[in-house]
Amino acid sequence: MMMQPNPAGRPAPVPGEAPLLSVDNLCVSIRVDDRSVNIVDGVSFSIRRGERVALVGESGSGKSVTARALMRLERRMKATGSIVCDGRDILKLSDGEMRRVRGGTIGMVFQDPMSFLDPLRTIGDQIAETLRIRGVSRRDAERKALHILDELKVERAAERLTAYPHEFSGGMRQRVVLAMALIGDPRLLIADEPTTALDVRVQDQVLALLDEISRSRGLSVLFITHDLGIVAGFADRVMVMYAGSVVEDGDVYSTFAAPRHPYTRGLLDAVPRIDRDSDRLASIRGTPPHVFARPQGCPFHPRCDRAFERCVIERPVLRELGGMRVACHRPEPEAAR
Ligand SMILES: Nc1ncnc2c1ncn2[C@@H]1O[C@H](COP(=O)(O)OP(=O)(O)O)[C@@H](O)[C@H]1O
Ligand SMILES: [Mg+2]
Repeated sequence: MMMQPNPAGRPAPVPGEAPLLSVDNLCVSIRVDDRSVNIVDGVSFSIRRGERVALVGESGSGKSVTARALMRLERRMKATGSIVCDGRDILKLSDGEMRRVRGGTIGMVFQDPMSFLDPLRTIGDQIAETLRIRGVSRRDAERKALHILDELKVERAAERLTAYPHEFSGGMRQRVVLAMALIGDPRLLIADEPTTALDVRVQDQVLALLDEISRSRGLSVLFITHDLGIVAGFADRVMVMYAGSVVEDGDVYSTFAAPRHPYTRGLLDAVPRIDRDSDRLASIRGTPPHVFARPQGCPFHPRCDRAFERCVIERPVLRELGGMRVACHRPEPEAAR
């Protein structure tokens, strides 16, 4: 997909409407020896109904742990703060209630469909299972599975339901896991690097499908990727994560036109673009810190060419800046208008 911001045709914000998802000061920690280490370190954001938000950042920044915490899938980690989805605080639900949220209010698609699918059971069985565990009859669940595969443009869907995962191509498997995420009619779809394992052509197909389905169903989407190149054509908003925190959050158009956080600028400078000479691609110097060795002050300061004394000492908080949210003591200049 070309990197041209295209928010056209996307739903406009409804004034006064409560967001579908509100995450407030989410910390997700693990215990290491005697101390607790925050992998996700005070993340706050919200997603409107029908809105698509891309969560980006280098590998290890905490994107997956954030996503999995929203579904309470990180059993060995402790999550604090609040996650309100469709009016309910996820962190306060019982395990039984949580099972209904997973696949019900929130559907999730992971990067590697093969690790998610059982090689010994038919596709139809696996898609229908999400409904079966909720007490839907076999017949109704199978009918719905068929309907979903049709919606996902799987040809000869009825035949496909009796096939096994190894008989499917990568793109088809990704459709199957998408069907599993959608069959419970979620309000929010979390897609964690859903196209990373696919070749570019199949990746485009899956993205186009995600675009169509989320549009027709009015779904909110949290789309996680380390590939900024595919964000602009799909998302309304982009949220950038670094070392466990959100460092920038803004609408796609403004963020791509004029990122305010030096890290976001670095990420964007490393994306090939049709409107720019691609042998001038720049990568950000250095590497992201390990979770156990995150620097004091701004976690990005050792790699930042705008850093000054304050950045070494004081961690910047995410604050409003020209319609965006930025965590930086010395943001990039605003775009000339
Ligand atoms: N179960 C775990 N135990 C210890 N560390 C973990 C665990 N899961 C993830 N991490 C660490 O947390 C950090 C963030 O991981 P992750 O959310 O998977 O990053 P991303 O999805 O942004 O690439 C990484 O440094 C990873 O090594
Ligand atoms: Mg990940």
